[in-house]
Amino acid sequence: MKKTGTSVAAAALIAVAALSYISSSGATASPTARAPAEVVLPITVDDFRLPDQNLHSHELRQLGDASAVVLITQANSCPVSRNSSASVKALQDEYSSKGVEIFMLNSTTIDKRDAIIAEAQAYGYNLPILLDVNQLVGEQLGVTRSAEVIVIDPKTWKIVYRGPIDDRVTYERQKAKADHTWAKDALDAQLAGKPVPVAKVEAVGCLVDFPERAKIATSKVTYVKNIAPMFEDKCVSCHEPGGIGPMPFTKFEEISPFAPMIREMIRTQRMPPWRADPSIGHFLGDRSLSAAQIKTLVHWIEAGAPRGAGADPLAAKTFVAPEWPLGKPDLVLDVPAFTIPANGIVDYQRPYIVNPLKEGKWLRASTIKVVNRQTVHHILTGYLAQVPGPGEVANESKWGVSLGGYAVGAESFVEPPDTGAYIPPGGAVGFQVHYTPFGQQVTEHSQIALYFYKDKPKFVMRNSVVLNANIVIPANTESSEQQAYIDVPKDMMLYGVFPHAHYRGASSQFFMVEPSGKRTLLVSLPHYDFNWQREYNFVQPVKVPAGSKLLAVYTYDNSVRNPANPDHNRVVPWGDQSFDEMLYTAFHYEWVGETSDKMEQYASFDKDLNQGRLFGMLDTKMNGKLDMSELTGPIGKQFAANFAKIDTDHDGFIEPNELAAAEAGMQKRRQQASQPATAAPAAAPAQPAAEKTGGGQ
Ligand code: HEC
Repeated sequence: MKKTGTSVAAAALIAVAALSYISSSGATASPTARAPAEVVLPITVDDFRLPDQNLHSHELRQLGDASAVVLITQANSCPVSRNSSASVKALQDEYSSKGVEIFMLNSTTIDKRDAIIAEAQAYGYNLPILLDVNQLVGEQLGVTRSAEVIVIDPKTWKIVYRGPIDDRVTYERQKAKADHTWAKDALDAQLAGKPVPVAKVEAVGCLVDFPERAKIATSKVTYVKNIAPMFEDKCVSCHEPGGIGPMPFTKFEEISPFAPMIREMIRTQRMPPWRADPSIGHFLGDRSLSAAQIKTLVHWIEAGAPRGAGADPLAAKTFVAPEWPLGKPDLVLDVPAFTIPANGIVDYQRPYIVNPLKEGKWLRASTIKVVNRQTVHHILTGYLAQVPGPGEVANESKWGVSLGGYAVGAESFVEPPDTGAYIPPGGAVGFQVHYTPFGQQVTEHSQIALYFYKDKPKFVMRNSVVLNANIVIPANTESSEQQAYIDVPKDMMLYGVFPHAHYRGASSQFFMVEPSGKRTLLVSLPHYDFNWQREYNFVQPVKVPAGSKLLAVYTYDNSVRNPANPDHNRVVPWGDQSFDEMLYTAFHYEWVGETSDKMEQYASFDKDLNQGRLFGMLDTKMNGKLDMSELTGPIGKQFAANFAKIDTDHDGFIEPNELAAAEAGMQKRRQQASQPATAAPAAAPAQPAAEKTGGGQ
């Protein structure tokens, strides 16, 4: 086959085919006279993922089993939007129970999330409002006005109706009753499998400004000038020979054939793999694209992905993934080799090695290198003061400081300046490794590279976790919310947060709740993604005053719509394996005032911190006392059974000191029965996980 001299034309063709745009005159019964001339109306809706006002995200193509999907464009302060709120509510009331998914879509450039929440409260919109801050969805849909209803057939992703909800409200005019109920008629027809009677009526809401839409066709953005530097910065580190991305993106000829796929990955927020909502917090090593970059990249593709004149800036460079991204290690430890069978379930492995360090070292950074990426789900590490005895494993309940952790996309940990974690000499290094079979038997030899300080650093990094081992995720439920908190006994600087759940994790939020009740959202993952887990390290560490709570809130999608869900009919408990669930947010912190020569003094604060974990799992009302209604779940029930005995002051509540006493009693009885801690799943999980973190799971 003749090699095309330039693949610009080819890329343009692919891009145009993928976009499936057609001009407005072809798509509609009545031309959009008042809409800007360049707006084209699509026949189908391209996939997208957007967060809503509550920072839970939604992907269009996951709604394939809905009977219809309705998007209603919304803009704050628009009288037509506001006056339609009763009709929107009526539509919801009638059709939500019939499998119709109804969303609002805010594509304005000015409405911020808080203002949208306030508007929704004031006008009674009780539905998810999708935040299209980059306007990509509104642009593709050909949106020009608010209060436009777009009815989509999920079997074909075609738009079957677009226009006003009815003819009751227009700009500056209202009727008592609608003569035409276009949206309702469209939904009735769609649900009956019949053609929609009127497919297009001109929208009457407020004009929404799309400043970039008109410029796409005449854009001067080229690969050589604008796109290549963006790829070098945000994509190549994985998409290079030896990198973890499936294909290299190191020259134009490698990138342009993937233009439509890149556009889809950006619109569905799958690439680059960075899940923190950009409106919450600033993080080190942020791999996300900025809003401007997202728009530039997608518009470049929509304009045909032109190469532009001049030499290819990427082709001139060599990109090869380095063996150790942080440079030559001071010490490399081998994780004991393990042979993973081709199929089946492999229990968590908890091997250990004898600590080779003859003197204590301060850890500055670490990286874990994995050979077979498909099979290693995660690796956690922890220092063990004593080498486990014969037949014993590296039990996490005995772990001290973390030496680092691994999950895809999160291989390295680097301490802040002059801050380290102390690894004593002697003892052992324990690992917790989760291998997942992938159809081929392999033997894995992972390694961990350690980097030490020459001189003792001034500050001490510690790690802990907020977890809830008491969770029970109901079957066939699209959004089940669960939470846990931990009380902070002393002023702390919070450095990083590593959220972790399994296949049903849908979203994750981490809050600081100050003694005054003030709640600050520190990290938000609107789309929790099992495949991409990492620690989010703050650019500015967060000061957490003593008496605050660190609160982790997760939602779980245990419905058929979650493509990762192994069994939506199962009630899912806490458990190690990915088909069970976790609510587990690890974090790194420093005690304010602690320096490396005062460590012993501060160790008791760690004890206090970890002691409160169990209480924070159960206290769902967050009022510092437990009543019977909070004692559900496998752990809660154990305490419920002995409520009267535990409630020693007989005030009808279990307070933290009463719970701690009951927990200690239980532990003592277990020890007397000489059961290993791991064999007591109910009350024990608070304990084993107490000191493991640093890498999430
Ligand atoms: C942290 C590593 C990493 C970074 C950074 C990254 N990718 Fe990826 N990319 C991957 C991996 C791994 C996959 C395989 C699919 C998966 O695991 O989600 C992938 C898949 C893709 C695919 C889908 C390929 C296919 O056909 O299935 C596209 C397109 C893509 N990436 C584009 C990008 C772009 C564009 C950027 C930069 C803006 C980027 N990626 C940054 C790791 C990365």
